Amino acid sequence: MLELDDIQGLLLKQMRMPCGRYSFLTFRRPDDGRGFLSRVVHQVAVADPGSGASGSCVFLALTCNGLRVLGIDEAALSSFAEPFRAGMPARAEQLGDHGASHPDHWVGGLASPDLHALLMLVATDPTERARRIEEHQSLLAACPGVGILSELDVALPASGREHFGYQDGISKVYVEGTGIEPPPGNGPAAKPGEFVLGYPDETGSVPTLPQPEWLSRNGTYLAYRQLYQDVAAFREFLRQHASTPDEEELLAAKLMGRWRSGAPLVLAPQQDNPELVADPQRNNNFDYGQMDPRGLACPIGAHIRRVNPRDTINNMLRRRLIRTGLPYGPPLPEHSPDDGVDRGLAIFFGCANLERQFEFVQKEWINAPKFQGLDHDKDPITGDHDGTYNMTIQKKPLKKTLRSLPRFTTVKGGAYIFLPGLQALRLLAKG
Ligand code: HEM
Repeated sequence: MLELDDIQGLLLKQMRMPCGRYSFLTFRRPDDGRGFLSRVVHQVAVADPGSGASGSCVFLALTCNGLRVLGIDEAALSSFAEPFRAGMPARAEQLGDHGASHPDHWVGGLASPDLHALLMLVATDPTERARRIEEHQSLLAACPGVGILSELDVALPASGREHFGYQDGISKVYVEGTGIEPPPGNGPAAKPGEFVLGYPDETGSVPTLPQPEWLSRNGTYLAYRQLYQDVAAFREFLRQHASTPDEEELLAAKLMGRWRSGAPLVLAPQQDNPELVADPQRNNNFDYGQMDPRGLACPIGAHIRRVNPRDTINNMLRRRLIRTGLPYGPPLPEHSPDDGVDRGLAIFFGCANLERQFEFVQKEWINAPKFQGLDHDKDPITGDHDGTYNMTIQKKPLKKTLRSLPRFTTVKGGAYIFLPGLQALRLLAKG
C-alpha cells in the first residue's frame, strides 16, 4: 500500500496547474531551517487524491546541504545516493553540462553550496498564485534566517504550448497503487519503488533505504533543470531546412516524434491529426518495435524516441522518469528576431535512482552519439550539441541527414534535491 497521505503529491497527483513560482532558499542556521519547515509543512500537498482539491499546491524539497544544515549527520548522509551527495554541479561531466551550460554560468545561486531548499508553488490561475505568493512572503518575513537565493516564475504561455511550440505533458508514468489506471499504450503501471523510496521496484525487492529510515521512506529524488530555449535559432533551423510552412511542421515533428499539436508520428506519420491528442485512449497508444521498427514514421533519434524507446529496449520501466514542470519567460512572438530574453523550461524529473534513471537517460540517450544504430547524432531538441553532430531522418529510399545541428537548449541551473514525506518534514522541523 502506498502511503499517499504521507508522500508529497508533486509526482503522483498528475495535476496540471498552469502557473507557479519556484523559490530557492538558504538556511543561515539550523534553527532557521527548522522554524521555516514547521511553518510551511502543513501547507505541503500530499498525493492522496482526496486531499488538497484547492486552487494551488505547495511542495518542499531539500538539497544534501539542506539536510546537513538541518542536523542530519555525515554517517546518515553517506547512505544517500552519490549524485545527490555530490550535488548536480559536480556531475557536469556525466550530464553534458559544458560550455555555456557549465555550472560556472548557472544563474540564481543554483550552483552554490548555500542552496538548501526549494519551495514549489503551483496554482490554477494567476490570482490564486498571487495570493499564495503573498502568503509565502509574510511567512518568509517571519523567518529572517531564511534567505531567498532566487525565484523563478513559471507559467504555461496562452497558447498552451511550451516555447518551441509543442504540446507537452501527454505521455505520463502510471504508478501502481495510486488508483490511476494507465490508458492503452502505456503498458502496465510501474512499480512504486521506481519512484518512491521504501517500496518494491521492478525487480520485486525493496532497495535499502538511506538512513535514517524515517527521513527517506516515502521520499523521492528529483533532478531539477532550468533549460533555456533558443527559440529564434530553433525557428531559423526549421526555415533553413524546409521550403514550405507544411514542411517546417513536418520537420518539427520529426525532431520531436510528435507534431506540435502533440499527435504522435507513429500514429499520424504523414499529416497532423490534432483530434488524436484530445483522446487519452489514443494519444499515447503506440510502440516502436512493432509499429515503426525502422523509424520511417518517428525517426530513431527523435526526442521522445530517445528518452523513452518503449518496446525497443529491455527493462524500460527501470529507466523511466516522472516529469513535471512549466515554461518560464515570455513567449517570443512569431517572426520576431531573438530578443535576448531568458525563456525556457523549468522541469523536475522524479525517480528513485538518479544514476540508473535520470543520469542514464541524459548521458546515454540524449547526449551519446551512438544510439540504436545511429553513430553521429544527439537528441535534436536538448542534446549538448556543439555544431558537429547530426539528426538522421530515416526515409525511403534514402535517409536524410541534417548536419551540424546547433544547440537549442542551454542549462541555466540545476539541482539534485530530495522530496521527503510529510512525516519526515515534521521530524526534521523538530530537530
Ligand atoms: C527544453 C528542453 C525540452 C523540451 C522542449 C522538451 C519537450 C518535450 C515534449 C514536447 C515532449 C512530448 C510530450 C509528451 O510526450 O508528453 C517531451 C517528452 C518527454 N521528454 Fe522532453 N523536453 C525537453 C527536455 C527533456 C529532458 C532534458 C529530458 C530527460 C532528461 C526529457 C524527457 C522527456 C520524456 C521522458 C518524455 C516522454 C516521452 C515518452 O514517454 O514518449 N525531456 N519532451
